[in-house]
Amino acid sequence: MTIRNDFLWGGATSANQYEGGYNLDGKGLSSMDIVPSGNTRSDIIQGYLNSFSIDNHLYYPTHKAVDFYHRYQEDIALFSEMGFKAYRLSISWTRIFPNGDELKPNEAGLKFYENIFKECKKFNIQPIVTISHFDVPLYLVKKIGAWKSRKMIDYYLKLCKILFEYYKEYVEYWLTFNEINMILHAPFMAAGITFNAEDNEEQIKYQAAHHELIASSLATKMAKEINPNNKIGCMFAAGSAYPYSCDPKDVWEALKVNQENYFFVDIQSRGKYPNYALKTFQHKGITIVMEENDEQILSKYPVDFISFSYYNSRCIANKNSDAELTDGNLFATAKNPYLKTSEWGWPIDPLGLRITLNEVYDRYQKPMIIVENGLGAVDTINDNGKIKDTYRIQYLSDHIKAIKLAIEEDGVDLFGYTAWAACDIISASSGEMKKRYGFIYVEADDNGIGTFNRLKKESFYWYKKVIQSNGEIL
Ligand code: BG6
Repeated sequence: MTIRNDFLWGGATSANQYEGGYNLDGKGLSSMDIVPSGNTRSDIIQGYLNSFSIDNHLYYPTHKAVDFYHRYQEDIALFSEMGFKAYRLSISWTRIFPNGDELKPNEAGLKFYENIFKECKKFNIQPIVTISHFDVPLYLVKKIGAWKSRKMIDYYLKLCKILFEYYKEYVEYWLTFNEINMILHAPFMAAGITFNAEDNEEQIKYQAAHHELIASSLATKMAKEINPNNKIGCMFAAGSAYPYSCDPKDVWEALKVNQENYFFVDIQSRGKYPNYALKTFQHKGITIVMEENDEQILSKYPVDFISFSYYNSRCIANKNSDAELTDGNLFATAKNPYLKTSEWGWPIDPLGLRITLNEVYDRYQKPMIIVENGLGAVDTINDNGKIKDTYRIQYLSDHIKAIKLAIEEDGVDLFGYTAWAACDIISASSGEMKKRYGFIYVEADDNGIGTFNRLKKESFYWYKKVIQSNGEIL
């Protein structure tokens, strides 16, 4: 097996980190619009929030983001110049339904995405659409507690119906939820969930996850009814958990972390709650309230393909270990002494991607696509006005080499790769601008000050060659 000729090379972004225009043309406030940068951010995204109002003394990165709202034509033309075959983007729910509970959609919001899809079509770029990427109408957070409530399923399906019908001629690849497992680690960011002091947090998170899982299955059903060509994927934050040592206690803890991580995909792909989860719920006193047909819904409408983000592997030590900790996507884990880390402390592990690809393929035997992978780094413009992001090229090149080996030597079925990120955008976890991931530099700082002009980085020209050569020139 080699990389297929129709491999979907491209890049990815999310609405809340990219678009800006947070209150334009009828858009309502969404959950991330009230999350400032700064030292309260982490508590807020984890659900320990006590106010939903906007404080004029703070900076809210989503409000301007990097102004894709006004610059989408310029940006998509740049994607096409790089040779993108696919562009993964997400829909801002509150552009379509400002509060989430309206009967009719906001035409201006629908038009915005239609314009984007038209641009993509012009350049033969396949859109891959995430229906919900860290994005919930704030009104529904306040009114019903967002995904805590089963009522969210209907609101979500109303959004899906509009999207599947309205964009039928443009979109065939859909992801139901971005990093669905993030609900366990950053519940407000992932699902608009907040807690009170007396709450049983795990009970709330898993019940909300159940609502999302049912919504995902019903969206899969609906997508096929509206257009049999639609292909629906789940999306989770991947990255194998390694035992810190061969002490069976470490191996056991790593196994538990992997199970926790695969839990969502086990349901979305295999169609039922796995036994290990049912047992864990029993031990922890978690009761999932289900309706009569729920089990049937989950089993009847599994996803067509598996998508995931991969930034780093994880290293798990047992409770008594004195292993040092390091940061990473999702959560901090033991520091792997064999790996270097990024400027933000995230381990860099290309072989880990090959391991993850094998693990996921062995487990589900379904086509896969990597929809996020990249390096967050500080970039500087040199005296000649150039951005030499050789560290990013190195990171991406090493990871793409690992992908090739997984396809060519191990036989995994991978049909695409959309790097994070197509263009510089604001960071989800920190809200910083200086944590840059893109091939295209955006001239703006952490406070949203700058021209917002676009500049091609060295990685832009490098990725163009990678795509042109279908991964031969790395
Ligand atoms: C993933 C998210 O968790 O990682 C993205 O899907 C996010 O939205 C990306 O931007 C990188 O994380 P961060 O926190 O560095 O932006």
